[in-house]
Amino acid sequence: MYQSQISGVGKYVPENVVTNHDLTKIMDTTDEWIQERTGIKERRHIKKGDGNTTAVMGYKVAKIALERANIDKDDIDFIVFATLSPDYYFPGCGVQVQDMLDISTCPALDVRNQCSGFVYALSVADQFIKTGMYKNILVIGSENHSGGLDMTTRGRNVSVLFGDGAGLAVLTRCENKNKGVLSTHLHSEGKFVEELSLIGPSTKYWVPEIIKENPQENIPYYPQMNGQLVFKNAVVRFSEVINEGLAHNNLSAKDIDMLIPHQANLRIAQFIQKKFKLSNDQVHNNIQKYGNTTARSIPIALTEAWENNKIKTDDIVVLATFGSGFTWASAIIKW
Ligand code: ACO
Repeated sequence: MYQSQISGVGKYVPENVVTNHDLTKIMDTTDEWIQERTGIKERRHIKKGDGNTTAVMGYKVAKIALERANIDKDDIDFIVFATLSPDYYFPGCGVQVQDMLDISTCPALDVRNQCSGFVYALSVADQFIKTGMYKNILVIGSENHSGGLDMTTRGRNVSVLFGDGAGLAVLTRCENKNKGVLSTHLHSEGKFVEELSLIGPSTKYWVPEIIKENPQENIPYYPQMNGQLVFKNAVVRFSEVINEGLAHNNLSAKDIDMLIPHQANLRIAQFIQKKFKLSNDQVHNNIQKYGNTTARSIPIALTEAWENNKIKTDDIVVLATFGSGFTWASAIIKW
C-alpha cells in the first residue's frame, strides 16, 4: 500500500466582482442582511464573453497546480472533476480538461456530490493511489453557479450565496506511510434529496413538462433550498465527521493545525471553530470574498491557506464539508 500526498494546489477566480451592493440593484436584498446571515461581502461571477466555463476554469487551475507540483501533464494518470454545474448535461467536464491539457487518452471521471464533491473526489483519487494503480491524479473542483441562478427577488434566498471559480489539488504517490492523506470519511442521507436541489430539467422533469406544469412562481430549473434545515443538519454533521476522522487516526481536536471547512456560511464555520476550540489561525475562511463556491470552495481555501504560509510540513490539516444530497465528508491530512 502507498500513501497519497498533495504535491500542488491552485485556485482560479473570474475577474468580475459582484458585491452585495450590486445585488441590491437587481433584487430586494441588503448588504446588511447578506453579511449578517452569511458573512458574504462579495463573490465572483463569470462575465459573458470572458471565455470562462466550468471546464475552462478547471483547465486554467490545472495549469497553475501542475507547475507548482513540478509535474508534466503527460505524467497525469487520472482526472477526477467535481462539479454540480458542468458545461454539458453529459459528458462531464473531466474529459474536456483531458482534451484542453492535451493528455493522451488519460481517464477522466466526474463526481456529482455538490458541496461534498471535492472531498469525495479526493477520496476516490486517494484510493487509486493507495492501491498502486496510479501515481499522479488531478482533483479538480469547479463551478459556474452564476449561469444558473434566479437573480430576481424570487430566488434571493439562494442566489446571493453562490459564486464561480475553480480550485485543484494534485495528488501524488508517496512512500512515507505517515504522510499525506491519512483517511477520508464519506456519508449521505438521501431522504433529504429535494431539500437542496435543482430538480429540472432532468429525465424526471423534462422541458415541455416544466413549462406546462409549473406556474411562474414555482420554477424547478433554479436551485431550491430549505436553508434552515440545511443549516441545522450541517452543524451536526460537520462536527460528527470531523470527530470520526480524528478518532480514526487517534487524534484529538488539539492536534488540528488547520481546519478548512466548506464555505457554506460563515456562521456554520464559526460554530464549528468554537465547538472544537480552535483559534482564528487554525481555521481558514474566505466566504467573505467568494461566497459559497460548492465543489471548489475547499481547494480554493486550502490554496489560500498554503499561499499565506498558514500550512507547514507535518501539520495536521482537516477538510470537512456538508451539502446537497445530503452528503457530508472529511479528510485528515498530514501535510
Ligand atoms: N435578502 C433579504 N431577505 C431575504 C433574503 C435575501 N437575500 N433571502 C431570504 N430573505 C428573507 C426571507 O424571505 C425571510 O423573510 P420572512 O421572515 O419575511 O419570511 C427572512 O429573510 C428569513 O429567511 P430564512 O431563510 O429563514 O433566513 P435564515 O436565517 O435561515 O438564513 C440562509 C438563510 C443564510 C440561507 C441560511 O439558512 C443558511 O445559510 N443555510 C445553510 C446554507 C448551506 O449551508 N447550504 C449548503 C451548501 S449548498 C450546496 O450543497 C449546493
